[in-house]
Amino acid sequence: MLKLVKPSRRYLDAFIKAMDDYKADENHYGRGGIDPLIQAIEENRVDEYLKKLSDGAKGIGLKEGRVPGTRLWLLDGDEFVGSFEIRHRLTPKLEKIGGHIAANIAPKYRGKYSSFIGIKLCLVEANKLGLDRVLMTCDVNNSASYRGILGLMKLYGGEQITDSEVDGVKSHRVWVNTKK
Ligand SMILES: CC(C)(COP(=O)(O)OP(=O)(O)OC[C@H]1O[C@@H](n2cnc3c(N)ncnc32)[C@H](O)[C@@H]1OP(=O)(O)O)[C@@H](O)C(=O)NCCC(=O)NCCS
Repeated sequence: MLKLVKPSRRYLDAFIKAMDDYKADENHYGRGGIDPLIQAIEENRVDEYLKKLSDGAKGIGLKEGRVPGTRLWLLDGDEFVGSFEIRHRLTPKLEKIGGHIAANIAPKYRGKYSSFIGIKLCLVEANKLGLDRVLMTCDVNNSASYRGILGLMKLYGGEQITDSEVDGVKSHRVWVNTKK
């Protein structure tokens, strides 16, 4: 059964098992939840990294223009399935690209509805954060993500709005309610 957990040392071995796959991954899109973790492991700075995540959720020490975000890891038993981030609010840029929830699925779990299930679980967390609906975006070339997001919109209600374009990257944008 898949579950979302707060990043902690307890789950680090699960990530380390998936790390080589991530490093060999050709897909370099949306790696903000992954590359800094790989770097922290390799440089022996994991505690510092985890502290940065918990501070970031509280809005402490954020880079200019960043809003608080909750990072969650999706696990299947002791296997690492993916990393998710729920931003607590939008910025003008996140309205165009990024939205409220970012997802990155481990290579071997792709194409198995992992993102769909992970986002469903994130909707519960987003609701607890006070969000009635979340904006989901995906690159127009990412048809698997797009199908997933449309599926969530059908299930929970919501609406699709016009595609955006930032620096030549076009994104589909869909609002999804956090409760049915
Ligand atoms: C925006 C996104 C594409 C960028 O991902 P990334 O390459 O991993 O890079 P980062 O997470 O470091 O974020 C890059 C930019 O996103 C925005 N962003 C990310 N997190 C943010 C936050 N907490 N507050 C404000 N802006 C944020 C910023 O503009 C940031 O640029 P900056 O570092 O110069 O401030 C990715 O985070 C994302 O949200 N993708 C949405 C697609 C997706 O996952 N959809 C669901 C799939 S089903």
